[in-house]
Amino acid sequence: MDNFVTIEQIDRAAAFIRARLHITPKIGMILGTGLADIADEVEDADVIPYSEIPEWPLSHVVGHKNRLVVGKLAGQNVAVMQGRIHYYEGYSMSEITMPVRVLQRLGMEIMVVTNAAGAINPDYLPGDVMLIRDTIGLIGMAGNNPLRGPNLDEFGTRFPDMSQMFDRQLMEAARKQAQKLNITLREGVYVGLAGPSFESPADLRFLHFAGADAVGMSTVPETIVARHGGVRVLGFSGVTNKANLDGSTITTHEEVLEAAGVIVPRLKAILLGVLNEL
Ligand code: HPA
Repeated sequence: MDNFVTIEQIDRAAAFIRARLHITPKIGMILGTGLADIADEVEDADVIPYSEIPEWPLSHVVGHKNRLVVGKLAGQNVAVMQGRIHYYEGYSMSEITMPVRVLQRLGMEIMVVTNAAGAINPDYLPGDVMLIRDTIGLIGMAGNNPLRGPNLDEFGTRFPDMSQMFDRQLMEAARKQAQKLNITLREGVYVGLAGPSFESPADLRFLHFAGADAVGMSTVPETIVARHGGVRVLGFSGVTNKANLDGSTITTHEEVLEAAGVIVPRLKAILLGVLNEL
């Protein structure tokens, strides 16, 4: 049975966090697998381990630090999630997206979402950063949308529009920064699957045919929930591996973590540039 998070649970977590902060975060950031070091630059930070926050779901994936870092980054008030909760850990869609709701209650107006992803687009290389232009929400399309269950009217309407999941102005700002920094920025469609197994070659050929450029196990539910609440979203995939469309190579979590190390400085530079310009 699905577990639908209530506004009371969201507000309990938000009240606990608010009492520990000395600023109001306007920008939320979710750092994907291996990308948590981007938060090292946050100044004057209040750091709250997820395990202390009431109602907050816990992640146990290697490569996630599992804490909320709230402070100043490139002149902006940010709340950075070092690690996210994945659907494959056994939580409901409503539970894995609860942190997005909490950040909204704390004042989030813009969300930057990042992930580690496999490259379906044959031009992409491990180490590449991809600006997410759109998503294929395969889990939601198959019936498990994060907004299933009672609508939380405090945030948005029952049937929210998703024609512009990623904010055009923020995307343009990211392109400009990448160009200025001389960093290749790919741009494409991210498909979000449930995981935790990586895809079979036939899965990948299907996804390629469907128009996906990168594949991962996150991001789509959080983006849908943020958009439901009217939050502007900017999304990036860090390409950690080539997806294995012909079955000739294997994909491992270690490979994903290793490539993330190359991605961090590139993504960090683009992100700080965008924040500076806001
Ligand atoms: N598939 C799914 N998720 C991923 C991958 C992949 O190849 N790489 C990093 N996350």
